[in-house]
Amino acid sequence: MTLTIFGSTGDLSLRKLFPALYNIYSLNKVNDDFKVVAIGRKALTHQEFIEMIKPKICEYARLSFDEDIFKDFSAHIFYYQMNLTEESDYTNLNIFYHEHQIKDQTFYLALSPLFFHSVIKGFKKLDHIERNNVIIEKPFGISTLDMIDINQKLMKIFPKDHIYYIDHYLGKEMIQNIKTIRFKNALFKNSWNHEMIDSIQISALEADGVLNRGAYYDSSGALKDMVQNHLLQILTILTMEESNNQHEAQLQILKKLRIDQVLLGQYEGYRNEKDVDEHSTTETYAELKCFIDNERWQNVPIYIRTGKKLKRREIVVIVKFKALEESPSNLLEIRIQPTEGVYLQFNIKKPGAKDQIETVQMDFCQSCVEINRINTPEAYERLFEEVFHHQREYFSSFEQILLSSSLIENIQKPMPFIYDKTIPYSLTEWVEIPHSY
Ligand code: BG6
Repeated sequence: MTLTIFGSTGDLSLRKLFPALYNIYSLNKVNDDFKVVAIGRKALTHQEFIEMIKPKICEYARLSFDEDIFKDFSAHIFYYQMNLTEESDYTNLNIFYHEHQIKDQTFYLALSPLFFHSVIKGFKKLDHIERNNVIIEKPFGISTLDMIDINQKLMKIFPKDHIYYIDHYLGKEMIQNIKTIRFKNALFKNSWNHEMIDSIQISALEADGVLNRGAYYDSSGALKDMVQNHLLQILTILTMEESNNQHEAQLQILKKLRIDQVLLGQYEGYRNEKDVDEHSTTETYAELKCFIDNERWQNVPIYIRTGKKLKRREIVVIVKFKALEESPSNLLEIRIQPTEGVYLQFNIKKPGAKDQIETVQMDFCQSCVEINRINTPEAYERLFEEVFHHQREYFSSFEQILLSSSLIENIQKPMPFIYDKTIPYSLTEWVEIPHSY
């Protein structure tokens, strides 16, 4: 079991990939020949690299840091310095693999798509490359056309089922739970349509700014960074038909998705962030009103919003049911992050009163229970395990990626307004549910 990470000193590797691998290692979920070849451009010794990942694991790994376990884990890591655009470096990498008897492995492209072409070219210098797997990270190309090109190049090297397009939101516990909530409760299954549902809201709010990813983010923006992938995954899982072929069911929704209105924002001070253009018009906030033009969802608005530097970090879905006469709407809230749980708002008779209605809540906090937290793997942890077991269900299909990308590319982008933590304009009256924990 070997994993080679291209881009191992980047933000993604440090904040997400190595902490996830540390968790997997701590839980004894790897075999004895587990190795991580960490590739980077920086001239670092093994020890310097280990010192680089250690504080990140302390900060971001879900399991508490244990010095002895970390020491053992580090012994499985090999830092390898190379220049990704230098072909001869791949010949040397091939020699390195032979020396360490590494044959079957998974490559992880945790890189800017600007490097994908060079790495794919370099793969040809490696022996028996077709036996390996490759995991590729978003953005899967700098444009839809580039994605097609990259996919075609990958397909010439790897069998189709060895290529994993990762969207870490598919590894989140509560996003997986959406299907169970929808399809395993008669209450929801039979009312999940335009006759009963008034609107759906999906919010993915972040308190952080772009941190040290200004260069990448400025060429991407919220639409490509979050909406095109993570939020359209949530939207399609929420609205797809029940099916044994989830990729196909999600694709059918994307084919019928109509983006009706778009609102963009940029947080105050964004243009002063490191590596961001001082005149940038890149959006750090995006709000969309969409419709799905099929029988189930006719005329039901689906609102999506995501942004950085907002008041809080939170991902939630709110399904607002149609109000009956004068009584308030039933609301179902699926809490994805940081709290995981389900909240339902419904109406009862006010105790003691004759005809008055009272709105009450049932509130289930899954992540408040310690055993649930222990048993819930972090998204990347779950996805690594899936790849190690050759499971593809939690990964995107290339057709989905293409369609999502062209939907976003075709948006006529309005100029972003400037905001400071709160959003002054909105396409909808966002329903905020009081949080009880
Ligand atoms: C990444 C985006 O894919 O997802 C980041 O590139 C964003 O900009 C991150 O911050 C959010 O992930 P999570 O798991 O923290 O919600």
